[in-house]
Amino acid sequence: MFYFKRIITACLALVALLTHTTAVAEISNLASQQPSSQETPPNQSVNETKLRIGPGDPVAGKSKAELCFGCHGEDGNSTSPEFPKLAGQYGIYIAKQIRNFQATTRTHQVMSAMAAAVIDEDLADIAAYFASQPMMKGASPSSNKIGKKLFENDDLPRMMVRCNNCHGTTGKGQNPGNPVYPVIGGQHKDYLLGQLINFRKGARNNSPSGVMNTIVHRLSDAELEALADYISGL
Ligand code: HEC
Ligand code: HEC
Repeated sequence: MFYFKRIITACLALVALLTHTTAVAEISNLASQQPSSQETPPNQSVNETKLRIGPGDPVAGKSKAELCFGCHGEDGNSTSPEFPKLAGQYGIYIAKQIRNFQATTRTHQVMSAMAAAVIDEDLADIAAYFASQPMMKGASPSSNKIGKKLFENDDLPRMMVRCNNCHGTTGKGQNPGNPVYPVIGGQHKDYLLGQLINFRKGARNNSPSGVMNTIVHRLSDAELEALADYISGL
C-alpha cells in the first residue's frame, strides 16, 4: 500500500508538472497575442487585481461586451443557471475559453457561435471587463458534507486530487492568483454539474493535459452532484 501510494503521488506530481508546463506555454502564447501597451512594466509588482483582469482594458471592454449581456448578465452574474457567471473570473481564463471555442477544442452549440463572432482585437478587453466585476458568489452556503469532503481531501487511489489544491481554499482561485485555475466558487450548480459530467465523459477535453478529466473520471453521479451543490454555495 505504501509503495502504491508513492507511485500515485509520483504520477500526480507528473500531472501537476505537465499541467504547469502546458499552462505556462498557453499563457505566454495568449499574452503574445494581446496588445502590449496594457502590459505591466517589468519592474512594477503585479498585484492581484491586475492579474485577475489580465492584459485588456476593462473600460473599453464594456461596450464591446454588450453582445454577451443577454445571456451572461450586464455585470457577469447571469440569472439563468444554463449560462455561467463570468463576474470576477480571470480575464486570461475567459479569453482562453473563447479561443478554445473558436478552435473547436471546446464546443457548445450556442457558445461556439458566439465565440466565432468575437474579433481578436476585442477579446482581451471583453475578458477584462467581466474579470473586473465584483466576483460571483453563492446565494447561500451549502451544508453538503460529501461535497465538502471531496473538495478538501485527496482520494489518491482514485486519482482524485482535492479541488481546493488548484481552485483555492474557497474555490475563488489561488492566492496570490494563477489565471490557469478558474474561479468556481459561487458558480451556478447546474452549470458546474454539466461541466463535471462533460469532463468525466470526455465531451470537454480542454483542461491542460486533460487534468480535469483525470480528476473526476472515477467519481460517481452522486459525488459530482454533491460537489456541484457544495461549490455553488461558496
Ligand atoms: C445566447 C446566449 C449566449 C451569449 C449571447 C453568450 N454566451 Fe457565453 N456561454 C453561453 C452558454 C450556454 C455557455 C455554456 C457553454 C457550456 O455549457 O459549455 C457559455 C459559456 C461561456 C464561457 C465559458 C465560461 C467558463 O466558466 O468556462 C465564456 C468565457 C463565455 N461564455 C463568454 C462569452 C462572451 C465573452 C460572450 C459575448 C461575446 C458570450 N459568452 C455570449 C451562452 C451565451
Ligand atoms: C491539478 C489542478 C486541479 C485540480 C486538483 C482540480 N481542478 Fe478543476 N480545473 C483545473 C484547470 C486547470 C481548469 C481549467 C480548464 C480549462 O482551461 O478549460 C479546471 C476547470 C474546472 C471546472 C470548469 C470551470 C468552468 O468555469 O467551466 C470545474 C467545474 C472544475 N475545474 C471543478 C473541479 C472540481 C470539482 C475539482 C475536485 C474534484 C477540481 N476541479 C480539481 C485544475 C484542477
